[in-house]
Amino acid sequence: MNSSSPIGIFDSGVGGLSIWKEIVSLLPNEDTIYLADSKNAPYGEKSKQEIIELCIKNTELLLKKGCKIIVVACNTATTNAIGYLRTNYDVPFIGIEPAIKPAALQTKTGAVGILATKGTLSSELFHETSKKFTEGITVIEQIGEGLVPLIEKGQIESEEMQKLLQKHLQPMLAKHIDYLVLGCSHYPFLLAEIQKITGNNVTIIDSGEAVARQTKAILEKNNLLNNTKHQTSHTIFTNSKNSSIKKILEILEKDVEVQYLDF
Ligand code: DGL
Repeated sequence: MNSSSPIGIFDSGVGGLSIWKEIVSLLPNEDTIYLADSKNAPYGEKSKQEIIELCIKNTELLLKKGCKIIVVACNTATTNAIGYLRTNYDVPFIGIEPAIKPAALQTKTGAVGILATKGTLSSELFHETSKKFTEGITVIEQIGEGLVPLIEKGQIESEEMQKLLQKHLQPMLAKHIDYLVLGCSHYPFLLAEIQKITGNNVTIIDSGEAVARQTKAILEKNNLLNNTKHQTSHTIFTNSKNSSIKKILEILEKDVEVQYLDF
């Protein structure tokens, strides 16, 4: 493993491609390998132990493929398993957590909304972060029930999606939030659908760019940044033949080959 090895990225499915896109754009000399564990989506409804086991499986596959760093492009996996992964493997790990700090620092109404999975919202790590930054601020937490399965099926613009989003977001709007934190890497693909409901008065934030910047910083610190200009290679593996991965890549305007692998 050296600076020319690929960056490994995994998520419970297509969501982490919102992070992958930021990494590819910030680090144009890096090769990447992405695992979409769509067969096991959603992670958000699983127990901490089940999530840890899925993360072990994904990590070991990425290590077998020679990755130099692993980006856990899933809030649910990060908040439940990153401690375990960092303790048990030597490779550096980058995680993603809901961007609650910038929302709390910038809110003017004093109310921020956070949409995330049950697994993230019930995790200790999320509670600690939230407690640290949100003193005196009203935080309206909402489980995005049903959203990930619909995104995995590619039903982003469906009527069912609008209905679910209305149900999840109206209570936050009633409390006058001015910031909405997307605490799941699948949700950036819902941006336009969410804006139909929130209008222009709510700023919507996610952690994608911050994760890409952190990935760059940790690669630099470990002398693992690839500075060689070359024809980069990006490989995406999915373990589901029915996921929306092709549609998501179209939305991202990325022409990358997707390979089926039973992992
Ligand atoms: N994309 C994931 C996240 O960021 C998990 C979604 C799920 O599988 O429930 O939380």
